[in-house]
Parts: sequence; C-alpha cells; structure tokens
Amino acid sequence: MIDVENIRKDFPILSRKVNGKPLVYFDNAATSQTPQQVIDCIVDYYSNYNANIHRGVHSLSQEATDAYEHARQTIQRHFNARYSREIIFTSGATHGINLVASGFSSFLQKGDDILVSALEHHSNIVPWQMLCERTGATLKVIPMNEEGELILPEFDKLLSPKTKLVFVNHISNALGTINPIEYIIEQTHQVSGAVLIDGAQACPHIRPDVQHLDVDFYVASAHKMCGPTGVGILYGKEDWLNKLPPYQGGGEMIAEVTFEKTTYAELPHKFEAGTPNISGGIAFGAAIDYLNTIGFDALAAYENELLDYATQNLLEIEGLKIYGTSPQKTAVISFNLEGIHPYDVGTLLDKMGIAVRTGHHCAQPIMDYFKIPGTVRASFAFYNTKAEIDALVEGVKKAKMMLS
Ligand code: ALA
Repeated sequence: MIDVENIRKDFPILSRKVNGKPLVYFDNAATSQTPQQVIDCIVDYYSNYNANIHRGVHSLSQEATDAYEHARQTIQRHFNARYSREIIFTSGATHGINLVASGFSSFLQKGDDILVSALEHHSNIVPWQMLCERTGATLKVIPMNEEGELILPEFDKLLSPKTKLVFVNHISNALGTINPIEYIIEQTHQVSGAVLIDGAQACPHIRPDVQHLDVDFYVASAHKMCGPTGVGILYGKEDWLNKLPPYQGGGEMIAEVTFEKTTYAELPHKFEAGTPNISGGIAFGAAIDYLNTIGFDALAAYENELLDYATQNLLEIEGLKIYGTSPQKTAVISFNLEGIHPYDVGTLLDKMGIAVRTGHHCAQPIMDYFKIPGTVRASFAFYNTKAEIDALVEGVKKAKMMLS
C-alpha cells in the first residue's frame, strides 16, 4: 500500500505553483521528479567528495570511486545482472543503444536482417537505420494493431536465420503498451539472433530481471526513475560485451597505450572513456534505493489504479479518443479531442498548472499509423493522486469548451 501523502513530501517540486496554480505533474514518461534523498546525494557529492574516479591515490578520489562502484553494484542487484562488470554507465538509454549499434557494424553484412517494432521511439529506430546504411543489412518492422499491440504472428513470419538483431521497447513511451518481450527474446534466440530491449519506460514501473529474461542487452535512463538526467546504463551479457569493440576511445578505457598500438581495459571500463557523470551515477544508485524502499509491487498496483481511474473519467468526455488500448499497459494515456490540435490542449492545461506532453513523442511512425499529428500524453507516477486526475479531467473539459 502506498502512503502517497507522505511520499509527496519527499518531492520538493510537487509543492510549487505553476501559473498561479498548484503543479499537477503528468509528464513523468519524459522525466520523473526527484526526491530529496536523491537531491541530497548530489549535494553531498559536490559538498564533500567531488573528485575524479579510478585515477587518484588521494582520499577524495578513493571515496568518489568507492561510491561510484557501490552504485554500480546497487544497479547490478536491481537488474539481477550476474556481474557488476555487465553494467556499463552511459549518458542514458540512447547512448546505450548507439553503443550497441556501433559495435555491431563489424558483425553485420548485406543479407542480414534487423527487426524493430512499430512501437519504437526514434532512439530505437535511427541508430539501426544508420547501422543498416553502414553494413548493407535490412531493417524490417514488426507491425502493430489498432490497440497499439505488436502482431506476434507477423513477428514470427519475419524471423529467420538471417535475423541477427531484434530491438523492441519493453514499454511504449507513446502508448504505454507493455510488449511481450519474453516471447520475443525466446523466439529470436531460436534463430540465434541477439535482442536489445529498451527499458527506458519500463524501469519506472517494473523491476526487470535480466538473467531471468535471458536478454542480451537492456538499456535504461536514470531520469525516468527519480534519478538525474544525463546518466543511464547498458546491461550486456558478458560474452557480448567482450565481443563488441569499444565505442569511444579515451582515458580510462585502455590497458596500455603506445603510438604503435593500444590495448583496451577490461569490462566495464572498456566502454567508459573519459570522466563520467560521477555524481549522476552515484545518484542513480540512490534513486534505485529510493524506489525499492517504496517497492515495485506497491507502486505498480497504485499506478494501475490511477490509470483505470483516469481512463474511465477521461472517456466520459465526448469526442475524446485514447490511443493505446491494450489491456497490457502502464500508466500512460495518450489522447486527442476530436477536431482540436493536441498542442492547443497542452497549452491550455499548462495555464491551469497541469504539465502534459504534446506532439509525436519522438515516435512519428506511431502517429503516422493513426494518421494524427500527435497526441496529448498524461503519464502518471506513484506520487500522483486521484485528485490530480480530477483536475486533469476538469482541465480537459474546460479546454474543450474554449477550443470548440
Ligand atoms: N522519450 C521521452 C518521452 O517519451 C522524452 O517523453
């Protein structure tokens, strides 16, 4: 059971006003808010032990290194990776996807197939298109239906021994659909392909177990999980990470450098060139601790309640259509009012202190499928309330009156 009133006290931003109204923050799928515990962790780093890691014998550097590596272990346990060296710190999910796409350049050739789903964010489309341009491999798309669900028989038909890689998001950022990744991973492994799952939208709601999933690569971003922006992780099975070449060259990723030849560091450092986002990595660990204190079962149950409540109440507004109606979905509602541009609705809601995202949500192919320019997207977190959903529903009714 969630004690939402107490939880809200952890988030200073939730007590501010926007345009003279109490903030109702429903843009959690873009960036979640940050609890005081995570803010304190960042302040503590810069106040007390700001130093470069893995480089110094001095005490501050040791303390920073210990805290950073401790965070890596927290993240390893959270995702149930076998080894902490399978957790690579990145600047976010997009960085992790690009790292894998770049690494596969040397493994693919003309005649190979890469499959992506119709539900992808641009960050899980464009890097693979660039990879196809470099290698001559072909990008094929697993189609979706009107509910915003992947059509699995079509996926089965696309799979073949030519399939080298499959990329699917765990949860769609635009529609909230939870994809059947267990089935996709299992079937892809039958043809010896590798699978990357983009977990950016799933990790705020679900605790993935990468060993149980048997997934080859999994990416996540801290800023969707009550952590700071500019940091995330790539999980990769050790064998895969050993096979992939380094992504960027620089300090810390080397074993030995001469002008004739450089040898590379062991995992995870081989993929961590340059000074990383140290406070970000440490704070990501603190954010994961925070979420686990609340508990993923409890927060998911509460968010589902919010989702049902909002769906029922929004659907009572005449002319409102929800996109993404799979029974397997998380707390994201993408909708439009008939004849009204989503941007106009979002702008009026903002005047009422209600933050939603409007537009194509970096998922233009989904919008093309529904033949719409975009949607209004309300995405909920465990610190939102039913009273805030009432405010949203009233706000949408007002916006409809003003814009009709
Ligand atoms: N990918 C983020 C979103 O869905 C930014 O809003």
